[in-house]
Amino acid sequence: MDITFLLNGETVELSDVDPTATLLDWLRDDRSLTGTKEGCNEGDCGACTVMVTDEDGAKALNSCILFLPQLHGKAVRTVEGASSPNGDAHPVQQAMVDLHGSQCGFCTPGFVMSMVASHANGTTDHDTQLAGNLCRCTGYAPIIRAAEAAEQHPVPEWITGDQTFSCSKILRGEAAGRGAEPPYLPNSADELAELYAQYPDATLVAGATDVGLWVTKQLRNLDPVIFLSRCEDLKQITITDEEIRFGAMVDMNRMGAALSDLHPSYAEMIRRYASVQVRHAATVGGNIANGSPIGDNPPALIALGATLHLRKGDERRSMPLEDFFIDYGKQDRAPGEFVESVSFPRQADRLKAYKLSKRFDQDISAVCGCFNITVSEGTVTQARIAFGGMAGTPKRATHVEAALIGKQWTAATIQAALPAFADDYQPLTDMRASATYRLETAKAMLERYFLEDQGEVTNVLEVSA
Ligand SMILES: Cc1cc2nc3c(=O)[nH]c(=O)nc-3n(C[C@H](O)[C@H](O)[C@H](O)COP(=O)(O)OP(=O)(O)OC[C@H]3O[C@@H](n4cnc5c(N)ncnc54)[C@H](O)[C@@H]3O)c2cc1C
Ligand code: FES
Ligand code: FES
Repeated sequence: MDITFLLNGETVELSDVDPTATLLDWLRDDRSLTGTKEGCNEGDCGACTVMVTDEDGAKALNSCILFLPQLHGKAVRTVEGASSPNGDAHPVQQAMVDLHGSQCGFCTPGFVMSMVASHANGTTDHDTQLAGNLCRCTGYAPIIRAAEAAEQHPVPEWITGDQTFSCSKILRGEAAGRGAEPPYLPNSADELAELYAQYPDATLVAGATDVGLWVTKQLRNLDPVIFLSRCEDLKQITITDEEIRFGAMVDMNRMGAALSDLHPSYAEMIRRYASVQVRHAATVGGNIANGSPIGDNPPALIALGATLHLRKGDERRSMPLEDFFIDYGKQDRAPGEFVESVSFPRQADRLKAYKLSKRFDQDISAVCGCFNITVSEGTVTQARIAFGGMAGTPKRATHVEAALIGKQWTAATIQAALPAFADDYQPLTDMRASATYRLETAKAMLERYFLEDQGEVTNVLEVSA
């Protein structure tokens, strides 16, 4: 496979690239760019953060779970390229020095690159932007102060130059990435459909936030692989009066932004999905297709009545999302078939998505409960409730729904419905939570939904003395 990208302002052309070589390994081993650090090698610590610029703008990404072909046509900047070619410090680097933002320094390159990316695209919610960077000795206050201090300085021209490259014609290059067989980098859903039909055993790589770990942690050999990163038509978000549709390659940050007005509770749940770096990579298609019982999107989408759209060659089929998940590790997807999009009806917002995890930020859900209950003149007319973390698949609470529909929307109805949770779910005990805890918290979430609907504040972060 042949690929081209910009690295710290210099064009890099690589031939016969190992498709599952990570950017982190390549930077450190082949380029001796050892400023980018390896901490966890699984997307959790941010020590390996780099900035990648494409037509959507500048993004912080974890280079440890980023495969080289995903960079084709993009601009990469490492901490060595944060300063100018003649050595002038980037404003965030200077602020980190001035405000004592570094002690042992191991985490610092990752922090600096997250801050360079935020600075480039003007984001100032630094707590959120830096939630995926772990520091064990400096403490976050001086680092946040440095990020704030850098806000007043303009984006340096050596950084803005990256944007020009990513918009260059290589993005639409006809033979992009097709140096070797099989051609791993389709440019559209049509090309993907053709390729996948030809190589139905191939591993599809979307954001690689799961697949990356198969390589870095399980040392799996994935061959052949097909990267979806250049399928622009799979990145579309369509919002009409009737429906909302997300292409499979819509990443979590874009999805959260699109949902912030329509279903704010869903958007808030996405804000707690991993970190900015992971959310820039992780796609909704990957989060569904992996069939995980603890993925955060499926319960919310099921509660919204979502339909999954699959494609194999030129054939398409659609199904209610909940029907896709047959059993633990088993989904209704044929060889050569891929997720093209997911849609749900445009509706008045009644959705609440409750993510329960051991840490507030950057943690996988122990239980994720999503409730979409319609009440008309005091009576429940519709209820769609779905959970992650309560069964081997994301699963609807049909018994609880039945216990609510047609009843008065009162505390007594809620109490009467709670025992039905035990009919819907027999959860497991694992490292995240015990079975009993899961069942009790699921019940508490329904009570919480009711109380919030009565105007009570239940989120401890919103309670003020
Ligand atoms: C540090 C970290 C934190 C995380 N936190 C969370 C979290 O809070 N909540 C959560 O839900 N998940 C979390 N995850 C898991 C992961 O981010 C998600 O499962 C993610 O959505 C996967 O999407 P992806 O695009 O990265 O998929 P990939 O890793 O590229 O692919 C995942 C699987 O889906 C298949 N696939 C991808 N796209 C398609 C398609 N269009 N059609 C068919 N098959 C496809 C792949 O072949 C593979 O089997 C976390 C992961 C990491 C590393
Ligand atoms: S090394 Fe920890 S996120 Fe990459
Ligand atoms: S400065 Fe030591 S871990 Fe952050």
